[in-house]
Amino acid sequence: MTDPRSSADPKPGADTGAASLFAPLQLGDLTLPNRIVMPPLVRARSQEPEREPGARVATYYAQRASAGLIISEAVHVSPLSVSRPGGSGLHNAAQSRAWRAVTDAVHAAGGRIFQQLFHLGRKAHPTRIPGGLPPVAPSAIASDAQVPTPEGPKPFPVPRALALDEIPDLVEEFRTAIELSREAGFDGVEIHAANGFLIDQFLRDGANRRDDRYGGSIENRARFLFEVIDAAIAIFGAGRVGIRLSPHFTQDGIDDSDPIALYDHVAQALDARGIAYVHLIESDAVPAEKRFAPRLRALFSGALILAEDFTLERASAVLRDDRADAIAFGRLFIANPDLVARFRLAEPVYNAPDPDTFYIGDERGYTDYPTLA
Ligand SMILES: Cc1cc2nc3c(=O)[nH]c(=O)nc-3n(C[C@H](O)[C@H](O)[C@H](O)COP(=O)(O)O)c2cc1C
Repeated sequence: MTDPRSSADPKPGADTGAASLFAPLQLGDLTLPNRIVMPPLVRARSQEPEREPGARVATYYAQRASAGLIISEAVHVSPLSVSRPGGSGLHNAAQSRAWRAVTDAVHAAGGRIFQQLFHLGRKAHPTRIPGGLPPVAPSAIASDAQVPTPEGPKPFPVPRALALDEIPDLVEEFRTAIELSREAGFDGVEIHAANGFLIDQFLRDGANRRDDRYGGSIENRARFLFEVIDAAIAIFGAGRVGIRLSPHFTQDGIDDSDPIALYDHVAQALDARGIAYVHLIESDAVPAEKRFAPRLRALFSGALILAEDFTLERASAVLRDDRADAIAFGRLFIANPDLVARFRLAEPVYNAPDPDTFYIGDERGYTDYPTLA
């Protein structure tokens, strides 16, 4: 039987124009066999209290190795950045060795994997931070979001504003984690500058009211981000560094007064550094006049990955129109380890994801979703 999509692959090896999801992509130093990306997905299956992935985690990622690129769950760079139980940390050598088993499994299955690195900043809760310390942030402004606790959702406290001389220590924590990522065998790192976490808190003036060199002007608010990006480039090389951005994310009161100017600056400064990709959370349902993707595409010459609510049809249309280079599918990858093979079917069928097992549990809803075979 002829597969209309794979046989219609316009130009294998193409990385410069309209292409199908099944066309290879040159993404920085990597050649991806397809443009189907597994985005970062926290699944909270790491071992406590070590915050290390075990054999189950390696199995989960290896099952999904046919993705053009896997990006790991968000991994905490600091022992003081602690979210739900089962989250992963990368601040010591034992954690790096545990991740090596994951990257080995993915590579043995023919895949490629970047590691997403982050720090919660104000979105950490003292009940989880060792010593009951308050969370830290650029400014003493609390997130509007609620933190899930065993007693139900609770508000985040007002964070402690970082002193100027503490900020280099945080950059150092990122640098150490990036080095540990390299030692763990990751193909690159994705710096998590999205979803209201620490780097995002520095970027946006709704959360950053500092009046020193890390606040005020856009250049100053982006300084922390670029210190981290430059550390990643020094360790991995620009061709193995990506970033995640979420200009539409305002859920926890992390707004900006001039997001176009902010993200234009970020795009230009990323372009000057020549990093591999920008991973933008922007649904295709966002009205054309509110989209950041076209601005990023004009200002940034690396690859553009889009995520949020994509289906095979919508993703194919975006690539056909050359509006992005690759598309990430989150919940579809949770439930369909063989998503790439399913996309190749003339009439794809999918397992439905089970939200009850997204963040808690064992292998159920993790490594037991069936494949077509
Ligand atoms: C269970 C779950 C965990 C997630 N964890 C992360 C994460 O660690 N880092 C991140 O940047 N986004 C995270 N996201 C967002 C996803 O990467 C993705 O952007 C989102 O699921 C939207 O894509 P989709 O509509 O294809 O699922 C998570 C989403 C889900 C459902």
